[in-house]
This record gives sequence, structure tokens and C-alpha cells, in this order.
Amino acid sequence: MTHADPYAFSVEALRSRRTTKWHKFDPDVLPAWVADMDFGVAPPVLEALQKLIDAEEFGYSDRGGALEAAFVRRMLRRFGWETHAADVHPIGDLVQASFAAVTAFSEPGDGVVLQLPSYPPFQDAITGTGRRIVANPMRRDGKGWRLDLGAFDANPDPKAKVLIFCHPQNPTGRAFTEAELAEVAAFAVRHDLVVVSDEIHADILYDGRRHRPLASMGPEIAARTLTITSATKGYNIPALRTAAIHFGSPALRQRFFARLPAKLLGFPSVMGIDATVAAWDAGDPWFAETLARLEANRDYLARAIPEALPGAVFLPPEATYLAWIDCAALDLGMPAQQFFLERARVGLNAGETFGSGYDACVRLNFATTPAILQEIVGRMADAVRQR
Ligand SMILES: Cc1ncc(COP(=O)(O)O)c(C=O)c1O
Repeated sequence: MTHADPYAFSVEALRSRRTTKWHKFDPDVLPAWVADMDFGVAPPVLEALQKLIDAEEFGYSDRGGALEAAFVRRMLRRFGWETHAADVHPIGDLVQASFAAVTAFSEPGDGVVLQLPSYPPFQDAITGTGRRIVANPMRRDGKGWRLDLGAFDANPDPKAKVLIFCHPQNPTGRAFTEAELAEVAAFAVRHDLVVVSDEIHADILYDGRRHRPLASMGPEIAARTLTITSATKGYNIPALRTAAIHFGSPALRQRFFARLPAKLLGFPSVMGIDATVAAWDAGDPWFAETLARLEANRDYLARAIPEALPGAVFLPPEATYLAWIDCAALDLGMPAQQFFLERARVGLNAGETFGSGYDACVRLNFATTPAILQEIVGRMADAVRQR
């Protein structure tokens, strides 16, 4: 059964989904945290899954490189990036891929450069494998968030081996420009870093922007870059656990698998593979509609936040459906996430999980219906007014 309007789920329908998003908090809390969408999925994805169900086809699958081939087609068609199936390796998810890459390309005690604020599991991938976070905070100027690679240049860590680069950036929503990517590429070469470029949000760019993969900037940066991506954010299928690692050179791939046997990493399920291939090959019309709705929600937030949270700093994202809001000027008297959970009954991501010093910030997932989003903003505004 498909939903009549895949963009109009009610709160009751969403709560009846057995998702972590809708079950982390008490039932009176509106959740706007983990990064999936309160929407349906693309019809070709449903058809692919239905086909498996109809055929009761759950034996060991024979998909002979289907995901790798779909990745190659997708990268070329959407981003103009030429890749080869032999350089692509299917894996369950990006967090796993980032743990694997850190493990393969550094030793315990080595440094891993990470821009802050950062998606929390990247920090886990570093500390959880006994490596050290080499924090490289981004700077906020009048126009937006900027990389500050010069800070590392001025104080380099000789034991830094890896850069985890998030492009587009979660949580700031930056889609880095070609000039910035050229700087990142030169930086990685200059410091001899292997780069893990997480491009999971690459589909979701606004204002007509087009994503430029870091590894497409030239052979020198490609040779030291693992690009990790999936259809899960753009197509709302994260529970299907299917992603891809692209190795920018055969030597990089060889180094990786010399450290980590492929069998140790597992393999996506047939449902994930078929759904991803369907999304990448045939999901464009659904995605165009979805992106327009996300962009409208972003524009709504750009108008509504200054009035709802006067003094908060919100730089509307260029990409992702995540809003990073700095509430320091509101003097909430406690971490911002705690304030909005307790006083507004809205469940956001806590800024402090994105790096120390960000406890006045929250991350708000705006991939929901306009009605729910307005209710979220209204509750936050009321709580701030009554504090
Ligand atoms: C930047 C980034 N990387 C990775 C992930 C998680 O990907 P996966 O579910 O494939 O581990 C997310 C999810 O929000 C993300 O924002």
C-alpha cells in the first residue's frame, strides 16, 4: 500500500512508523533531530522493493555489480564526475565506512583532522578507534561558515594522517565552492593526508547549486580520497543500509583492503541494492519534487527564525535539510537542546554533541510537512517568549 500523498503524513501516521526519530522522545514531543524525512519514498524504490516481495525473492542475491554500475551512471549524470565500477565498493553504511577508513589509514595515537562543528559519529570514528581528533573549527563571518585550513597550517600535527571532510557539511549546511575544494585538495596534498570525503548530502543542494565531488578536482587529490556516499539521504531510505566507497586510485583501494579484509565489512542487502539502483536510475522526478519542498521549508525558516528566536544566528543552509541555529544571544540558561526539549517539547540535536563549545546551538531537521514545521517553530517561539 502506498500513501495517498507522500508529503502529507499526519503526526499520528508518523508516530506509527517504528522509526527512531519518532520514538526517542516522549509522545508529546515533536521530533526534528535524526536526518531522515517525514515523507514517503520514490515510486521506483517502492516498485523495486515490491518486486522482491511479490517474488518472495530473498535467496542469496546475484546482482553482479549492479550497485557499482549505478554509482558510475549516477555520478556522471548528476555531477559530471567520471568514475569506474572497479573503484567502487558496496558497504552497509557511511558511519561504518568512516570507521573503516580511519582504521585502515592511520594507527592508534595518530591524528585525524576534522572540521567542527561536526556530525557526531565522525568524532566517534576517531576516538572509538584510538585515534586523536585534530580539531579544525570553521569560522563564522558575516556571510557564512568558512573553512580555516590556515589554522592547521600554522600549527600542524605531524602525526595527522587522515582528514574527514564533510561536503556538503553537516551541520552548517555549507556546499563548498570550487575554490574552497581546490584549497582542501592542496591542503591534503601539502600535509600528506588521506581524505575521507563524506558526500551523503550531495543531492540536496539549493538555489540551483550543483555538487562538485572533491575527488573530481584532479588526479592528485583523487589518488588520496575515498568518497563515501549513498542514496539514503536524498531518497529517504537510511534503514536499508546501503552505501558505496569510491577509491580515487587502485593503490588506495589496495592499501585499504590490505588492512581490512572485505569480508569483515559485510555487504548491503538485496533490498538496499535494488532500492538504491532504482533511486539513482529512476528517482529524479520524485527527488525534484522533494527538493522543491525542502527548499520551501528552508525559505520558511529563513523568514520565521528571526522573528521566532530574536537574536539567534541562523544562516540558511546551502545544502542538507538541517538548520544549525546558534541561540547564544538568547541566554537560555541551559544548553539550547535541553531548553527546547523541556520548555517547547521539541526534540532537536544538541549542539554540544557536534563539538565542545556548541551547547548554545541546536540542529533542526526541517524535512517535514509545513504544518509540523510551523508547529515546531511556534512552540520554540513561545518557549523563548515565556522564558
Ligand atoms: C554527514 C553524514 N554522514 C553519514 C550519515 C549516516 O550515514 P549512514 O546511515 O549511512 O551511516 C549521516 C546521517 O545523518 C550524515 O549526515
